[in-house]
Amino acid sequence: MMDVAAPALSPAETADPQPPPQPAGPCAFVIFGAAGDLTKRLLVPALYNLAAAGLLPQEFAVVGVARGEMSDETFRARMGDALHEFATGSVSPEIVRDLTARFSYVRGDFDDPNTYRLLADKLSAAERKCRTGGNCLFYLATPPAVFALAAERLAQAGLLREEEGRWRRLVVEKPFGTDLRSARELDRRLFGLMAESQIYRIDHYLGKETVQNIMVLRFANGLFEPLWNRDHIDHVQITVTETLTVENRGKFYDQTGTLRDMVPNHLFQLLALTAMEPPVRFDADPVRGEKAKAIEAIRPLTPDDVCADVVRAQYRAGVIAGRRAAAYREEPGVDPNSMTETYVALRLAIDNWRWAGVPFYLRTGKALAARRTEIAINFKAAPFALFRRTPVERLAQNLLVLRIQPDEGASLQFNAKTPGPEIRMGGVRMDFKYADYFQSRPNTGYETLIYDCMIGDATLFQRADNIEAGWRVVQPILDAWREGRDCADLAWYAAGSEGPREADELLARDGRAWRKIA
Ligand code: BG6
Repeated sequence: MMDVAAPALSPAETADPQPPPQPAGPCAFVIFGAAGDLTKRLLVPALYNLAAAGLLPQEFAVVGVARGEMSDETFRARMGDALHEFATGSVSPEIVRDLTARFSYVRGDFDDPNTYRLLADKLSAAERKCRTGGNCLFYLATPPAVFALAAERLAQAGLLREEEGRWRRLVVEKPFGTDLRSARELDRRLFGLMAESQIYRIDHYLGKETVQNIMVLRFANGLFEPLWNRDHIDHVQITVTETLTVENRGKFYDQTGTLRDMVPNHLFQLLALTAMEPPVRFDADPVRGEKAKAIEAIRPLTPDDVCADVVRAQYRAGVIAGRRAAAYREEPGVDPNSMTETYVALRLAIDNWRWAGVPFYLRTGKALAARRTEIAINFKAAPFALFRRTPVERLAQNLLVLRIQPDEGASLQFNAKTPGPEIRMGGVRMDFKYADYFQSRPNTGYETLIYDCMIGDATLFQRADNIEAGWRVVQPILDAWREGRDCADLAWYAAGSEGPREADELLARDGRAWRKIA
């Protein structure tokens, strides 16, 4: 296979004529779970990056809420330290000082109404001191059990009320429910307190540049969309594999499993962006409406379909990138007889005019041979062998691969004539690497999401119907596994491998094969 490098366009040719983004309007950013990992590793470094890019308003304050005893000064100092440890690039002491000076802290239990009275006082102080205009973003960086409770207490304290032009928004982290019933119940409780337009359900995959790029690639080019359908596409493979094991998350993971952790959220985002119809406008509701329709068109799985089309597996001991890895059942916090899956592969059908008859194969898992997130669009082969020495089945597949991570970019594979007097063919690949064309600043992936919440753009957030549609597809799988049907037995794979044999068989039955991940 040979790589054909595309000549780089000059900056003038690639320049986007739009004016640069402006700082968000005045607001306070309240973090529930301010002492947790998400806050120090991602949220605060993301706020720093926004500040460094000039996208935070001057009228800005951060209030942390957590259980531990801490003064405002200690909180500021800890967040300053976290920035030095987890920043995505070099850190300017002035920006750190200016940012952390806006931080204050409320100690309290999330179920204690008094916590919210103290919070209201802090917010009033921030409104006076930092002129936040009474606008508030409440970020629930907490365990999921706290989501509805914290929202209820906020509402009881009057903190979710939008009056006199000030806005109040709630950011809810993943996982949004653990099945269809609990996701609906959470929505029901939230809708009793606020409007959909105030709820920002995060899926951090939507903060990834290359995930957003799927829409640009499809809808800003005339080239791909005419081919993007059942007439030209044979099948689609969506892969999200990790070399990471469950590490110190054994307890959480053992109750969750890969299906819940990755499929109704991250993998379905990738599927929806690949399969959706063009939205009428690039605005939150048209985009989310089309995404919901794509997920709703996935054919519901019967118990027999779950047997035939879903593979679940768990890793045994193995070697990942030269290092010995213990079996999942030996990980701390994991039941030594655990039946929880660390890998899942699915074959889904989308019942609509665009995709009827085009299988979507999805796979995701931990402790695999490589970290790779990609969408591979496999086009149909040439219809007959014009070049007799190379039969159609020996031609390289026409393939468009969208690489989400690592090595972000896209490549297009097709056939070309090999040099020589005879007509012989070889597969070649045109490769676009993001890094060759665009300078991207290192980021946490949360910058765009936080900024969008501040400016009230919900395009990259999940609406209730998106989330529920995802759970609706996954629920029959959870049910079949719970009922313990024989065919739903757990398969096995060695840590550091390409995955279980059963996942290969899933595609082999259709005469297809997964792309190699390593
Ligand atoms: C999280 C899952 O949502 O996504 C983790 O809970 C997983 O288990 C992670 O490792 C993967 O995210 P990324 O951005 O590294 O692909």
